[in-house]
Amino acid sequence: MPIIYIKDKRRFKLDTLTSSYIIDIFDGGYLLNIYYGKRIDEDRVERRLRMRNASFSPVDPKMGEGEFSPDSAPIEYGSDGAGDFRISALKICGDSGDSVTDIRYRSHKIYSGKPSIPDLPSTYVNSDDEATTLEICAADEIKGVEVTLVYTVFENYGVMTKSVRIKNVSDKCVKIERAMSLCNDFPTMDFDMITLYGRHAMERNVERRSLSHGLQGVSSNKGISSHCQNPFCALVSHGADEDNGEAYGFNLVYSGNFSIMAECDYNDSTRLVMGINPDTFSWNLSPDEVFYTPEAVSVYSYNGIGEMSRTFHRFYNNNLINGKYKRSERPILINSWEAAYFDIDEQKLLDFGRAAKELGIEMLVMDDGWFGHRNDDKSSLGDWFVNENKFKNGLSPFIDKVHDMGLKFGIWFEPEMISPDSDFYRAHPDYCVHASGRTPMIGRNQYVLDVSREDVRDAVWKQMDAVLSQNKIDYLKWDFNRYICDADSATLSKERKEEFYHRFILGTYDLMNRLKTNYPDILFENCSGGGGRFDPAMLCYSPQIWTSDNTDAIDRLKIQFGTSMCYPASSMGAHVSAHPKAPFSTRANVALWGSFGYELDVRKFTEEQKSQVKEQIADYHKYYDLIHYGELYRALSPFDGGDKAAWQFVSEDKSECLLTVVCLKEQSYERFIYKFKGLNAEFNYKDEESGKVYSGEYLTVFGLDLRNEVNHLYGSKKWYLKKM
Ligand code: DGJ
Repeated sequence: MPIIYIKDKRRFKLDTLTSSYIIDIFDGGYLLNIYYGKRIDEDRVERRLRMRNASFSPVDPKMGEGEFSPDSAPIEYGSDGAGDFRISALKICGDSGDSVTDIRYRSHKIYSGKPSIPDLPSTYVNSDDEATTLEICAADEIKGVEVTLVYTVFENYGVMTKSVRIKNVSDKCVKIERAMSLCNDFPTMDFDMITLYGRHAMERNVERRSLSHGLQGVSSNKGISSHCQNPFCALVSHGADEDNGEAYGFNLVYSGNFSIMAECDYNDSTRLVMGINPDTFSWNLSPDEVFYTPEAVSVYSYNGIGEMSRTFHRFYNNNLINGKYKRSERPILINSWEAAYFDIDEQKLLDFGRAAKELGIEMLVMDDGWFGHRNDDKSSLGDWFVNENKFKNGLSPFIDKVHDMGLKFGIWFEPEMISPDSDFYRAHPDYCVHASGRTPMIGRNQYVLDVSREDVRDAVWKQMDAVLSQNKIDYLKWDFNRYICDADSATLSKERKEEFYHRFILGTYDLMNRLKTNYPDILFENCSGGGGRFDPAMLCYSPQIWTSDNTDAIDRLKIQFGTSMCYPASSMGAHVSAHPKAPFSTRANVALWGSFGYELDVRKFTEEQKSQVKEQIADYHKYYDLIHYGELYRALSPFDGGDKAAWQFVSEDKSECLLTVVCLKEQSYERFIYKFKGLNAEFNYKDEESGKVYSGEYLTVFGLDLRNEVNHLYGSKKWYLKKM
């Protein structure tokens, strides 16, 4: 059994493929986080009660002086104000006004499968035998709250998920001021922390720092997970690299304000908490009401950071991404944005479509600019009806013509926004997010629509639904182009104002659910000025996300390497664009690492480019499964400052391998022997280009001398090896 309860020790042991996690019920009902690490036999584990030093730390008088302090013990879900001074996971303010919170074990249950979380996206099981769940109910008797810690372990991966539900069992309202999804106490601070920082058009750069005493971490307060920090963090052993060392990866299934904080204390131990950002959150819970936290995903690997990433990829492809396009091949698209920006009309798009179809492209996506009177970014968000100056006969005849060409058709929306210059705003000026008495800030000339309100969601959905139900639409790109401030909703009482950000994101999820439920065949691509909302929650609705507004292939190397820390290739929208820095072939080689498409004026292709496009499209089809569902090996990272970047995909059965190398320096004739990763030593592989056959062992141990293969600035090359 992957989860057992050892009665005589009052101990839970949760095993995944790679890890064990042990929780003890200690005297007084304290829940202790005894162990998280490489999978072990439970007999070898000693209880850690007290660390080296707790002389100033309070003790529970009922437990006996010196035995135990909540401040130095590895508390499973640390709470505020009752003797544990570290950053807490839980803080609840009761009717008496104090926020001292202290939860103790009450009961537990273990069962097969995994529950979903009401109103929140989460990972899922395909069948109940894939996972086992433990629910531990703890309670603060004084406050009258029950806190249920929900753990699910997946036997076939090194994956565990956690979430928490909080129920008010008192007869008074309580206020939750902090409810994190995950809390882990490690007995050491000998870790490096890896996070993904960035900005618009340069998202998810890899940053690595050694943990130090005190608090450190990343967060978002921008209303969305954001371009600036991702809800991901890894704690890795010092010196861990792609193939060696321990790596714990944590990812929050949430798209709103988040916080990931590590605190290293006076005992040189580490507490990590991850969840909704408590700085911009509180929640009033009436009697009998339940609050659900988002889900946190934890991955453990003792074979380095690469194995951690591959576990996330496998898990997300199988247990997060869902719907029609979970496995079926997604069409190669041409998107109008970088080709024409707002300057689109029926004729131009049909010309794009015709040129694209000839080359083998499968779908035409009409980006921003088709609705209201939108000719630039100054108007019309919220007016989701066709611009008849651009489409004289309306949308349907145009879309029919696209379909008649044999192409699929995609459309762009930005549902959670409203332009001050729009009929929608003129009719409902109160629908925008604003704090009472203040003029709201503007971003990209637009306001944010208050989708925390159901009436507002209904109004925008009605318009979207009309477009979607009256037209045959195969793909929808859902954009979000500014951060949220002036956080308030007219419908929230004074006590509930801090609920706004979480209610907003629940509103977004509700809208996305309507789209998914009513139009399950539409391929849905998320976007937020590129990758401003690139998080696992969005992957529950859309199998792919536009990775970045930066389509320069060389910049994309860093963006894609960083994104791949936890997100699979299948989730990354990647297009060949007109950015001239890298040769056309390199642009395609880099874009192939993702959900592939084009974003440039296809009418302007030279004959040479046209024949290259045909080859690229053939490559996309040929390597689709290998790249989307294969195992990624980040061989040479662009963050390392070397003269090459390289990555490899190996099919799950190890019968196929694709290596791509990009040169990053002007002249690069240095010795370059590439030792392949992830192959089966016993297999013989044929290099498709040279026809030569090598054993897996030879390729891995001796490698191939590729010195003269890729040595000019931004040149690139692919090698495809197949089992004989
Ligand atoms: C930002 C997106 O990332 C772009 O791809 C494009 O859709 C524009 N918005 C349109 O306004």
